[in-house]
Amino acid sequence: MTTDVPSELAREPLTDSPWPLTSARDDAGRLRIGGVDVADLAASHGTPLWVVDEEDLRTRCRAYVDAFPDVWVAYASKAWCAVGILQIVAEEGLWVDVVSGGELHTAKVAGVPMDRVVFHGSNKSLAELRMAAQLGVGRVVADSFEELERLENVGDELDHTFATWLRITPGIDAHTHEYTRTGHDDSKFGFTLSLGLADTAMRRTAELRHVDVVGIHAHIGSQIFGTDPFVANAEVLIALLARWRDELGVTLAECNLGGGMGVRYTSADDPVPIGRYGEAVLAAVDRACEEHGYPRPQLAVEPGRAIIAPAVVTLYEIGTVKRLEGMTTYVSVDGGMSDNIRPALYQAEHDVALVNRSVAGELEVCTVVGKHCESGDLVRDRVPLPADLAPGDLLAVAATGAYTASMASNYNRLPRPAAVLVRAGEVRTLQRRETYEDVVARDAIL
Ligand SMILES: Cc1ncc(COP(=O)(O)O)c(C=O)c1O
Repeated sequence: MTTDVPSELAREPLTDSPWPLTSARDDAGRLRIGGVDVADLAASHGTPLWVVDEEDLRTRCRAYVDAFPDVWVAYASKAWCAVGILQIVAEEGLWVDVVSGGELHTAKVAGVPMDRVVFHGSNKSLAELRMAAQLGVGRVVADSFEELERLENVGDELDHTFATWLRITPGIDAHTHEYTRTGHDDSKFGFTLSLGLADTAMRRTAELRHVDVVGIHAHIGSQIFGTDPFVANAEVLIALLARWRDELGVTLAECNLGGGMGVRYTSADDPVPIGRYGEAVLAAVDRACEEHGYPRPQLAVEPGRAIIAPAVVTLYEIGTVKRLEGMTTYVSVDGGMSDNIRPALYQAEHDVALVNRSVAGELEVCTVVGKHCESGDLVRDRVPLPADLAPGDLLAVAATGAYTASMASNYNRLPRPAAVLVRAGEVRTLQRRETYEDVVARDAIL
């Protein structure tokens, strides 16, 4: 079942619909976002096009800050790292989590205060760590023994001390897609608690001069529903801090609980409202602190998907409609896996809607596909859409703000799409469309 663009505001506007907050159909059935007609956007900016509802994005940032009072909320920029997006989240008071030199450079260009940047990553190079030291990044998350030594060497070389969080693998299975679960014991990320590796790492840092461990971090996975896994994560981390106080005489003052909150892509998804999520996690921290007699640490959380995914739709133009009697109706659009790899990579489903005219009359089960030469290039399988779809019609795919543009490619040498911000009838360019010149720019002509 697909959820059509809502006509009136839902009970929980931020989680009850996969469509952006300010999206609505006008009397002619055309979709408007931020007071802008998306068919006009397609005409002026072309398709495929990422359309970002700026009001929605800012509202989600504020909702997170409200749900986590006195907590450092860091936008996990891996969800979508673009200069304009980082400018907006920083304006809304968020920190920024980066995982590479490229994301760090983007944060610098966006003017994000470097002391509000968290540098993650499971294999940060010497060059990236030098960059972090030279830019004065706020926190670095150490993910392995090699990284502890690299931090020490770079710190020695540049006479810099890294305020560091140790990434803990808490042994929590988050019950999400295999490719996005990260907190279970057999994970590539972090120091595995159950194998004693976290203790070994903590003891090793006592011998290091340039690695100042100020706290711990754990991220258990992504697109997680319910609050239980997050509560369990908080309990494990506070218990660890208390045990290290008792056993090692170290009272760490910071604890980063990671990201991972699920969002609604279709009516089948049932995300927890941000407020309830915040309440549950903070209550778990307070309960555990009381149980262990541990002073409440400065907390941090790192939402990515929950901040940006629902604020964005992708606009496509239909190129062909292929009706195979008794089999499938293929509706092919002018983008696909090079701008949204999630269906192919995670078997993910996003809601789809016809948006350049009203949805009237009969529906037909269609399979929306991309234009790449790949049968796996799926946009959405078996979805009811108007039976009179035709080339030139516009489809919008909901909740495409996270892990789409950031994972986009030039497969089949498709230029990457443009992205625009819409708000109060205004349109601003976030990313220009790539040209064919851009696509060949790195190629040497032999
Ligand atoms: C360390 C870390 N923090 C935060 C996030 C953000 O997760 P999400 O986008 O699910 O909130 C990720 C995502 O993979 C991550 O690896």
